[in-house]
Amino acid sequence: MSDAIPVIDLTDLETGNPQALARIAHDIGSAARDIGFFYVRNHGVAADLIDAAFAASAKFFALPTAEKAAIAIDKVGANRGYAGLLTEALDPTRPADLKEAFNIGFDDPATGLGADGRGRNAWPRLDGFQPVMQAYFDAVLALGRRLHRAIAVDLGLEPDFFADKLDHPLATLRLLHYPPHPADALAGQIGAGAHTDYGNITLLATDAVGGLEVCRRDGVWVAAPVIPGTFVVNIGDSLMRWSNDVYVSNPHRVVNRGNRERWSIAFFLDANPDAIISALPGCVAPGALAKYPPVTMAAYLRQRLNATYGAAVGIDTVP
Ligand code: OGA
Ligand code: NI
Repeated sequence: MSDAIPVIDLTDLETGNPQALARIAHDIGSAARDIGFFYVRNHGVAADLIDAAFAASAKFFALPTAEKAAIAIDKVGANRGYAGLLTEALDPTRPADLKEAFNIGFDDPATGLGADGRGRNAWPRLDGFQPVMQAYFDAVLALGRRLHRAIAVDLGLEPDFFADKLDHPLATLRLLHYPPHPADALAGQIGAGAHTDYGNITLLATDAVGGLEVCRRDGVWVAAPVIPGTFVVNIGDSLMRWSNDVYVSNPHRVVNRGNRERWSIAFFLDANPDAIISALPGCVAPGALAKYPPVTMAAYLRQRLNATYGAAVGIDTVP
């Protein structure tokens, strides 16, 4: 088992060059079977856009608490809106997380805003915030779809296998802000408790502060260093299930040890609500049975979110 998280260069993934696709598929496949995490560079998302998203995020978290609370997740619903400091414990055995967050969901241009029971995004009154976040959302969604082409090839499928399962995805962009570690923090209280992500893949942009840690399947924690110009990508639980556990979704956490604030932006790419998560053909050995029964993405995600956050965020989508 490796203790390094590999860096994969995505040059030419976009152009459809078959050699590049084969190399990237192979590299992603080995990382996904082992540590479940990899970095991507030359990923095609403009640095200026990433900087603009971080700048807009900092402005949002600097708003008065009452303005943020007015668009809290429990008011907005459908896992969209603001989650305040100490309102979540990603590891339920630990004290609440030292972080605040803001969630933006996928709006389907084909069916209209808030269609198909997904709820609607709530936007803060901040000039330029919405266009920047929508542009960033679109860019990371496109990157996530490109990565699924490589994942499909690695799993012995046609490159566009996931295309019609990701055309109206349950995708969420989550802005995160971690305050400096407070002097009065409780024992064992950290930025984000150990957890796995629920969907197919997560694309994470971080600032220079560091603090992300990944748990290998043998229980050893490995630091994920900051590598400028990259996204950290990890396999989530629904892709692990889809691949019949060939790929691994590993626990991770955030420990903001120093006295600096930390910002990150996570993009959770989960499949269409009506996509059926059932063992992919190449992932079940001949004569063996799939490990899990089929389930829709919406039902799977609802079950996972409800277990973590209670009914407050209820995903309404019932395909
Ligand atoms: C998450 C997560 C890591 C980070 O939100 O699921 O793992 O660096 N975030 O903020
Ligand atoms: Ni996570």
